[in-house]
Amino acid sequence: MRILVAGAGGMLGRDFMIAARERDHEVIGLSHADLDITNPAAVDRAISTHRPDVVVNCAAYTDVDGSESDERSAMRVNDEGAAFVASAAASIGAKVLQPSTDYVFDGSSHRPYVESDVTGAISAYGRTKLAGETSVAAANPRHFIVRASWLFGIAGKNFVETMLRLGEEGPEVLVVADQVGCPTYTRHLAEGIAELLESDEYGIHHMAADGECSWYEFAQEIFDQAGVECRVMAGTTEMLARPAPRPAYSVLDTERLNPIRLPHWRQGLAQYLAEREVVRQEAAA
Ligand SMILES: NC(=O)c1ccc[n+]([C@@H]2O[C@H](COP(=O)([O-])OP(=O)(O)OC[C@H]3O[C@@H](n4cnc5c(N)ncnc54)[C@H](OP(=O)(O)O)[C@@H]3O)[C@@H](O)[C@H]2O)c1
Repeated sequence: MRILVAGAGGMLGRDFMIAARERDHEVIGLSHADLDITNPAAVDRAISTHRPDVVVNCAAYTDVDGSESDERSAMRVNDEGAAFVASAAASIGAKVLQPSTDYVFDGSSHRPYVESDVTGAISAYGRTKLAGETSVAAANPRHFIVRASWLFGIAGKNFVETMLRLGEEGPEVLVVADQVGCPTYTRHLAEGIAELLESDEYGIHHMAADGECSWYEFAQEIFDQAGVECRVMAGTTEMLARPAPRPAYSVLDTERLNPIRLPHWRQGLAQYLAEREVVRQEAAA
């Protein structure tokens, strides 16, 4: 297939390009500098020039706290931009894949969320992603909406990098223990998405790493696997007061009959740390 990727410079975009090429697809990657998805004429031009079979929209406004004070900017990218991409894809008969997030849920559940569960975003970012889901579905009947969670990958700022930096700076870190989710390696998600695109299983899919943990447990595992001596102290959401509210529990599961399942988050972390080392050695050489 010929696949066009918008937002190709981000964590998921970069890893999706690798995963799709490994499956022998022809991939055209456009970074933010190449294509601004909030410009409908530019989106139409890119899609009608490259005429892909599928458009994967990895472009997003992903600053969760920043969205709280500037929901309009987040909405322009995550809703309006996503709709321009989905609609331009529909105009040439192409499928569209739109990543979404566990933050479309309110987090009050005590069991993992499945695709048909009622949404109820509690943050501005979550509201913009939820609006994007609806707009993409309305604009293109051949849509895949893939909800993922707690992403970490080579091409972006992420929790693993933050912990490793803090672990170098001091002997202890305070991390929230009352938010539980599925930390997901973007390379694993990218491989799942590349497989899904070859199907006609349209609609919403939950695709996150196997297992669940709190940010506190994730931080402990990061230091263990990286061999860093740093004490992790358990904090609460209230103590760490961030601008955006976050779901207390946003573990994703699926009710699909033959779902694509991703490896465990501990395995994702191990592979991420190994890939990070290779990238660092290549940069130093
Ligand atoms: N990160 C997470 O924890 C997480 C969790 C669940 C779901 N998701 C979803 O997964 C998808 C991929 O996220 P990610 O973690 O890979 O994000 P990311 O690393 O922040 O990448 C997003 C990319 O989109 C680009 N972008 C922003 N505005 C754009 C615009 N108007 N036009 C074109 N490109 C634009 C950014 O470029 P600049 O940096 O130059 O602005 C960046 O390269 C998103 O849909 C996100 O909502 C993320």
